[in-house]
Amino acid sequence: MKIIHTVSDLNAALAPARDKGFSIGFVPTMGALHKGHLSLVERCVENNDICVASIFVNPTQFNDKKDLAAYPRTPEKDCALLATAGCHIVFAPSEEEMYPVPDERVFALGDVADVMEGRHRPGHFNGVAQIVSKLFAIVNPQRAYFGEKDFQQIAVIKAMAAQLNLNVEIIACPIIREDDGLAMSSRNTRLTPQERLAAPRIAQALRESAHLYPSKPIREAKDYVLEILAGEPMINVEYFEIVNGLTLQPLNEWADNNFAVGCIAAWCGNVRLIDNIIYNK
Ligand code: PAJ
Repeated sequence: MKIIHTVSDLNAALAPARDKGFSIGFVPTMGALHKGHLSLVERCVENNDICVASIFVNPTQFNDKKDLAAYPRTPEKDCALLATAGCHIVFAPSEEEMYPVPDERVFALGDVADVMEGRHRPGHFNGVAQIVSKLFAIVNPQRAYFGEKDFQQIAVIKAMAAQLNLNVEIIACPIIREDDGLAMSSRNTRLTPQERLAAPRIAQALRESAHLYPSKPIREAKDYVLEILAGEPMINVEYFEIVNGLTLQPLNEWADNNFAVGCIAAWCGNVRLIDNIIYNK
């Protein structure tokens, strides 16, 4: 596995593969890798001749500077895990390499970016679109792999790729969870032991709400999750919405759609966690 820090070195490393017409798959990450990230890498390795993974903590997508400063960084461990997963090339650029000049682009990503994470984290998705569009331009992959843990992010990336006419297939991969149901996240390492015990209630509440699908009204499923989590002193829900999985807009009736997704953001202590459930899967 090659570890590469500059765009010119990456171009040189990929040139032979491009000449031979090899397929290139890409997994963008911010590092502090866990089994969720590695599941994307494994799928990428399986389905492409070359797997490139990037590690870059992108400052432009952090609306909260404290969150950026606290974001875990474990580059050596990440590279060891990527090598074990069969990754061929790690691209770990510096901030200067990715932003040689300030990126002032403002993306019009449409309705999918305006709700939920878009509403609660102003500027977040614009920063994601900036960095992912740059990484796509540099790596030029045929396929790119994203986790459904960040359900809305996938819709935003698809909107960005469509807007820029990018010829990349966006592949959505399922959420990988801890044994107790907590969705794996780099931020989980920041939970105190007590918070770590409380955090799985988020996933459990989502899972239990699926028992109300489709026999009870959507309102009841929403209230169920909110009420269960209101009873958890360590958890503060920022939003819980049941949305159309394609448009990300709120659903009023299950029958309005055959792709209903419940998306939640909740604070556990000082850590903001997100999770979701696809009801009709
Ligand atoms: P990051 O949070 O590091 O996540 C990288 C990829 O791993 C994302 O596609 C995310 O959805 C996926 N992922 C994280 N936890 C997962 C889990 N438990 N199961 C399955 N997949 C999981 O998302 C980002 O970085 C950034 O926004 C990025 C796209 C790299 C742009 O900076």
